[in-house]
Amino acid sequence: MERFGVRIISLILLLMLTKNLSSNALGDSMKDEEGLKEDQNEMENSLSNYDEMRGMKDDDWQMVQKKGNHFVVNDKPFYVNGFNTYWLMVFAADESTRGKVTEVFKQASSVGMTVCRTWAFNDGQWRALQKSPSVYDEEVFKALDFVVSEAKKYKIRLILSLANNWEAYGGKAQYVKWGNAAGLNLTSDDDFFSHPTLRSYYKAHVKTVLNRVNTFTNITYKEDPTIFAWELMNEPRCTSDPTGDKLQDWIQEMAFHVKKIDPKHLVEVGVEGFYGPSTPQRTQFNPNTYATQVGTDFIRNHLVLGVDFASVHIYADSWISQQIADTHIPFIKSWMEAHIEDAEKYLGMPVVFAEFGVSSKDPGYNSSYRDTVISTVYSTILNSTKKGGSGAGSLLWQFFPDGTDNMDDGYAIVLSKSPSTSGIIQLQSTRLALFNSLCNTKCNWGCKKKKLLEEILYRDEL
Ligand SMILES: *[C@@H]1O[C@H](CO)[C@@H](O)[C@H](O)[C@H]1NC(C)=O
Ligand SMILES: *[C@@H]1O[C@H](CO)[C@@H](O)[C@H](O)[C@H]1NC(C)=O
Ligand SMILES: *[C@@H]1O[C@H](CO)[C@@H](O)[C@H](O)[C@H]1NC(C)=O
Ligand SMILES: *[C@@H]1O[C@H](CO)[C@@H](O)[C@H](O)[C@H]1NC(C)=O
Repeated sequence: MERFGVRIISLILLLMLTKNLSSNALGDSMKDEEGLKEDQNEMENSLSNYDEMRGMKDDDWQMVQKKGNHFVVNDKPFYVNGFNTYWLMVFAADESTRGKVTEVFKQASSVGMTVCRTWAFNDGQWRALQKSPSVYDEEVFKALDFVVSEAKKYKIRLILSLANNWEAYGGKAQYVKWGNAAGLNLTSDDDFFSHPTLRSYYKAHVKTVLNRVNTFTNITYKEDPTIFAWELMNEPRCTSDPTGDKLQDWIQEMAFHVKKIDPKHLVEVGVEGFYGPSTPQRTQFNPNTYATQVGTDFIRNHLVLGVDFASVHIYADSWISQQIADTHIPFIKSWMEAHIEDAEKYLGMPVVFAEFGVSSKDPGYNSSYRDTVISTVYSTILNSTKKGGSGAGSLLWQFFPDGTDNMDDGYAIVLSKSPSTSGIIQLQSTRLALFNSLCNTKCNWGCKKKKLLEEILYRDEL
């Protein structure tokens, strides 16, 4: 927090410097006079208040939208520096742990992060939201209401995921158990994707969540700009059908279903981003050969009507080798660049790297290596941002407040324990916030502000 103040002051100094630079450079063109004034006003406004620089005025609290391959809010770019904390709803459900939810948002906001991805599902487990098909625990729903309402207080937007591929918090396995309990004879967890009864369970869950009226704010979820986007599922895989047809069909039906109920919010699928059978020329970028056989197909999955942006996860340690190896950093770069290129050339949409991280349990791990991973991801995003590319942001896996060590799977980042990592996160937030605030979509990333932006984005001392 102390470091933060110093950073802001040096940021203001730098801005004043670069403002003069750009005035001189543009001074000889009458045509630019008006634009220049606009720039200056814009910058002075920005400088008056850091919150405003981050687009935090209440009038600005509008829905995030997609414009070509960028996100926009109020017609201004919205590049994302954010994080994951999946357990917020469950923690909010108990008085004794509820404060941790506030702490997460408060700390994330102190390093400038503006988006959090979290679970809007907990199926049939301890503290379940959905106890059985279409039967909800009102106390847990109120806890989710609290998460949404608290996020807004800290000006953090939420990506809410609606189901899990994995067994944690229920997942597709729980839907299959429910189906069997209702008299079906299902043998594969992938029946979640194909069986009409299980599809109807999932669709009912979606409908319930989207139409929920928040008990803290009275705002219906589907009308709430605090929600950045809906995610169909966390990391869907359908290994029973490597052709990808089964999952593709599910994505088509569910993306349409969400949009029909809620045309205002953005939708993403939640896949990890593996290339599949539809693009054999791209499978070279996969981390391993198994990745082509899990029934997902990055480009095809994202060409579905209703899907607004692409999601990709990055886990060199779980996909290539748990032992930290020299190949990991180059993989991260090429994996990201390939998906950014796809999003530009074939999809015409932004791409969010919605989970990335490294586990402290990996052999060869140390915290400076983790910083290298994070810096590589951030730098790759910025390099795309700079060109007006599709790289729209990234979300750390995962961000925890103090005193939640029991939840740590090895990937947790706790600010108080990681001053150098905090600095890196802060710097990325500041760079993206400046970019969001100084440019607007009319710039087309080719305007006179471009040079100024480049200077700002690439000063290390910022
Ligand atoms: C359930 O399905 C399995 C395999 O699909 C089949 O062998 C079995 O006879 C079925 N059981 C019932 C009660 O229908
Ligand atoms: C929500 O609506 C109820 C009933 O109309 C009202 O009593 C309450 O004050 C409202 N709360 C907020 C936060 O607007
Ligand atoms: C940290 O880990 C990386 C990757 O294993 C290694 O290359 C580096 O030498 C380590 N640095 C320190 C200070 O131990
Ligand atoms: C981003 O671009 C800069 C300047 O071209 C380059 O030095 C850097 O290596 C790039 N970063 C990544 C991660 O590709």
